[in-house]
Amino acid sequence: MATTPISTVYEVEQQRRFTITDFGHTELTPTYRVDLRSNHTPDVFHDANPVSDWRKLSWNTIGRPYQVERWSRDKRSWERENQQEMPVKTCWEQFNRSFQSMFDTDVIAARRNAVAGLGNALSRLALHKAWESLEESLQWTVWNRIHRVEDAVWDPRGKRALFEGLDLHKPAVLFLGAADGYEAMQFLAMYPGGHAVLVDYDDYCRTDRFGKFPEAYPFVGNDATTGSPRVWYRDEMNIDFEVADIRDLRYGKEFDVVISIGLVEHFPDQYKSLAFDMHRRFLKPGGIAIITTPRLQLESKLFYTLFADKMNFAYRELMDVTHLGLYAYENGFEILRHGRIKAHNAIVTRPR
Ligand SMILES: C[S@@+](CC[C@H](N)C(=O)[O-])C[C@H]1O[C@@H](n2cnc3c(N)ncnc32)[C@H](O)[C@@H]1O
Repeated sequence: MATTPISTVYEVEQQRRFTITDFGHTELTPTYRVDLRSNHTPDVFHDANPVSDWRKLSWNTIGRPYQVERWSRDKRSWERENQQEMPVKTCWEQFNRSFQSMFDTDVIAARRNAVAGLGNALSRLALHKAWESLEESLQWTVWNRIHRVEDAVWDPRGKRALFEGLDLHKPAVLFLGAADGYEAMQFLAMYPGGHAVLVDYDDYCRTDRFGKFPEAYPFVGNDATTGSPRVWYRDEMNIDFEVADIRDLRYGKEFDVVISIGLVEHFPDQYKSLAFDMHRRFLKPGGIAIITTPRLQLESKLFYTLFADKMNFAYRELMDVTHLGLYAYENGFEILRHGRIKAHNAIVTRPR
C-alpha cells in the first residue's frame, strides 16, 4: 500500500493557524515544537533574583567565566590552509550556516539515516565510517531532545517569563546579533503594535535564518486591543532587518528596548565594555536592555563538546547569571531582574 510521506502530511498540517482555543496545546513537528502552554510553570525563569546586592559581589568570589576552546574542524583546517586565524566575521558566517542546518533538518529522519549508516558500515567493517555514523546518531538524538523535546534553544516559555510584565506600549525594539530573530518575534507578540529592527552583519541571517523562519510557527502573546491572550505569526509583525556591523550603527536614542541573545559572551573581557555600551547607546531615557548568555553548566559543556564541529567557530564564554549581572553592573547598568531560563542566564537592565 502506498503511504503518504511525512513531509506531505505535515505540509497540509502547516496550513493550520492556531487560535485562542488551542491554548494549552503542544505538539512536535519534524523540526520544532509547537508550544501554546502557559509560562507559569516552575521550569521557567527559576532561581529568580539570587543576588540581592550587586555592590557586594566580586570576581574573587564568583571566579571568571569558562572559555570554550574545542574548535570546529572546519575552522582548524581553514586556519592551517590560510596560515592565519579565521576572521571573526567569517567565523559567524560559518556558524550561522552550520547551526541553521540543524534547525532545518527533519531530526527523526536524519537519525534513522545515521543509524542505518552505522549498521551498514559495521557490516562492512568500515570502522572509521561506523564511528562517524555513531557520532552523527548521537548528535541527532541529543539535538532532538534539546531542541524538539525540551525546546531549550528557542525556549518560548522561558522567554515569555523573561519578557513579561514590562511597562511598554508599542515598543521600538533593537535586536543586536539577531540571527534568526526568534526573540524579537516573541517580544512583539507580547507587546503588539511595536516595531523591531534586527541587526546582524551576516546577510545569510536576513535571507535565510530570519528570512525563511517558519511562517507557521505560533507565538503566544497578547491582543493589542483587549489585552487577552492571542496567537501571533511572523507575517503579522512589523520587522526590519539591517545587515550591518553593530559597531557601525548610527541610530539616535530611539529604542525602548535593546535585546541580545547570546552575544556578549563572544566579547573577551577587554571588549566587554564596548559590548555593553552597544546596549546603552541607542536607548531612550528610561529604556531597558534584555541580555542573555549560555549557562555555565555540565549540559552546556557537553553540548559544545559534542557539537564542536558545528558550533565552535568564534570565541565563547559560558557564564553564570552572577557573571552576566556583574558585567552589566560594572558597566553602568541597574539590574531590574535576573535569573536562569533553560539554557541561558537572563537579565533585564536599565542604564544607571
Ligand atoms: C551566537 S549568535 C546569536 C545566537 C542566536 N540566537 C542563534 O540562534 O544563533 C550571534 C550572532 O551575532 C552576529 N554578530 C556577531 N558579531 C556581530 C557584529 N559585530 N555585528 C553584527 N552582528 C554580529 C553573528 O553573525 C550571529 O548571527
